[in-house]
Amino acid sequence: VVDISTFYKDSGMFTFDPGYTSTAACESKITFIDGENSELKYRGIDIADLAGKHSFLDVSYLLMNGELPTAEVSKNLDLEIRHRSFVDEGIIRLFDALPDRAHPMATMGAATMALSAYYKDHLHLEDEEAFKTMQNRILAKMPTIAAMAYRNSIGTPLIYPDVDRYFTENFLYMLRAYPGGKMKHLADGSNQEITQIEVDALDAIFTLHADHEQNASTTTVRNVGSTQAHPYVAIASGISALWGSAHGGANEKVMDQLKMIGDVKNVPSYIAKAKDKNDPFRLMGFGHRVYKNRDPRAETLKGLQDKLRESLNLDSKLLDIAKAVEEAALSDNYFKERGLYPNIDFYSGVILTALKIPVEMFTPIFVIGRTPGWIAQWAELKRDPKHKIARPRQLYTGK
Ligand code: ACO
Repeated sequence: VVDISTFYKDSGMFTFDPGYTSTAACESKITFIDGENSELKYRGIDIADLAGKHSFLDVSYLLMNGELPTAEVSKNLDLEIRHRSFVDEGIIRLFDALPDRAHPMATMGAATMALSAYYKDHLHLEDEEAFKTMQNRILAKMPTIAAMAYRNSIGTPLIYPDVDRYFTENFLYMLRAYPGGKMKHLADGSNQEITQIEVDALDAIFTLHADHEQNASTTTVRNVGSTQAHPYVAIASGISALWGSAHGGANEKVMDQLKMIGDVKNVPSYIAKAKDKNDPFRLMGFGHRVYKNRDPRAETLKGLQDKLRESLNLDSKLLDIAKAVEEAALSDNYFKERGLYPNIDFYSGVILTALKIPVEMFTPIFVIGRTPGWIAQWAELKRDPKHKIARPRQLYTGK
């Protein structure tokens, strides 16, 4: 540690902290985490009192505005979000330029970046209404972009939003409907109808992902935001950071891994692989930078999984493998000594599969859920008169 305050009066101590394990880069009033006691609160409210108890849109409002909305504000927000859910036809043409089988995360990043070409509200952020419109617009469009990115990747005609449907139901509709918007296929009798149980489950999953203070993607959003870049560009950079398998991309990898394990009897050999320091294999969905004890989001999701086991007909083979992995890891000294517990990504996959959500859409679901958090963090940065451009230092070790 070197004191450089004589050279740079605002800098304090010069510290070398790879991965920023103990460096706070901002002050924030949005999300509180106590990693040792497994606590997570949005604006002072425990996550267990929000997920499944308030709608995801109300929780988004809480994150972006500091308090839960009144019934009237909540209704108006719902209506506004429905009406802002459409995307410009130019964005749809952009999808066409991308190759078939493009990962939906690649398309979502490109489409979100492209939104900055359509909206100029960022030039009027001193106007409170323009500020709010800009926030609600990106929140409203994310499910549309996600569903269209997926349908484009499999070559199925895109489905436009239906203003008669709530945010989460609308997303399932745009993902599932037959071309033309029908939910039933009369020829073969198959049925894509959406149930309230499904909407509530996905809504709770969105809420559990909605913010997590200065994680890698949120830090990225703040860093890009600090350069005065367009807010949608900052959100697009959050999508890029989230895609990696050490972060939001882990949920897709958890499902791949559970399928790869294939049977409860194979669990011990995969646990041994995860402990082998000569093998880069990691148990996906285990470990967290801040939680060295149980992840409260994972606990809530596990409860949801148990509740939905029957009603959503969850895949019991996958559940058995997941349970065996969890039990084996939690009773193993390697995992105990390092504080490696299941994280949120470990439990979301089995529920998402039961909601007929394809595995490539797991990380896009994380994007939809995390969008209000990114917006709230970006807005907090913008309103902080002390905020500076993010510009870390380095320890030069070259020639
Ligand atoms: N499987 C096996 N060993 C692990 C795992 C794992 N999943 N995670 C960490 N370890 C080990 C490391 O090898 C290291 O061991 P060592 O001390 O003997 O060298 C020790 O635990 C500490 O690991 P770090 O990588 O230093 O911990 P860090 O806090 O930097 O990383 C991370 C956290 C990235 C989440 C890590 O635990 C990981 O890669 N997990 C798997 C991916 C995953 O599930 N990501 C989702 C995170 S939650 C989210 O983003 C929503």
